Amino acid sequence: MKSVIILGASGNIAKQVIDILVRKDDITLTLFLRNARRLRNNNVSQCRIVEGNVLDFNQLKEAITGQDIVYANLAGDLEAMAKNIVKAMDETGVKKLIFISSIGIYDVPLKPVLKPYRKAADVIELSDLEYTILRPTWFTNADEVDYETTRKGEPEKGSVISQKSLATLITKIIEFPENYIRENLGVNKPNS
Ligand SMILES: NC(=O)c1ccc[n+]([C@@H]2O[C@H](COP(=O)([O-])OP(=O)(O)OC[C@H]3O[C@@H](n4cnc5c(N)ncnc54)[C@H](OP(=O)(O)O)[C@@H]3O)[C@@H](O)[C@H]2O)c1
Repeated sequence: MKSVIILGASGNIAKQVIDILVRKDDITLTLFLRNARRLRNNNVSQCRIVEGNVLDFNQLKEAITGQDIVYANLAGDLEAMAKNIVKAMDETGVKKLIFISSIGIYDVPLKPVLKPYRKAADVIELSDLEYTILRPTWFTNADEVDYETTRKGEPEKGSVISQKSLATLITKIIEFPENYIRENLGVNKPNS
């Protein structure tokens, strides 16, 4: 069995990832979110649900203890969140982190709205964790799985990505966490 915690489990992409992961017998899911009533999945009876705030270090550390994989699907003060996540993972010996950032965080000049996304990526890259940072393009609701990735340092491609594609990629990394270790990937729909 593999233990996976989703931070920000009420988020849009998290919802789709949960829908895929609850069907997998070898995964134990913990859903960490500020308010359990905001959870929109109706198939989570087998999941452990923890109400907590990522900015509350003690709550976070307790929830992360014993997990194999942390998947962070967050918004807000991402730098402070990333610092807490890295510290909690270091102190509990959890290595694998999947963190959703954004397209454009290495652009010069950096758009102010993207500063927290960039700072969070910087914090994570300075850690010893087995992280995978994802930098998706703009989300669509298209019912399709069609994506490609670019590595850090390569020009980002495309302008859109379906939420379903991003959720599929995240699920694959959770299934095969030995892939994309210490990678920082752009994710886009080809030719978009
Ligand atoms: N939309 C796009 O086109 C696009 C493109 C590229 C990247 N992104 C980024 O990709 C990420 C994932 O997207 P998404 O649409 O799934 O995001 P989302 O729906 O906004 O989900 C973010 C989640 O973070 C949670 N959260 C915020 N502060 C928290 C805290 N202190 N403790 C615990 N949870 C907290 C929120 O929970 P609450 O329910 O408690 O508020 C929310 O469920 C976001 O950072 C988004 O900005 C989006």
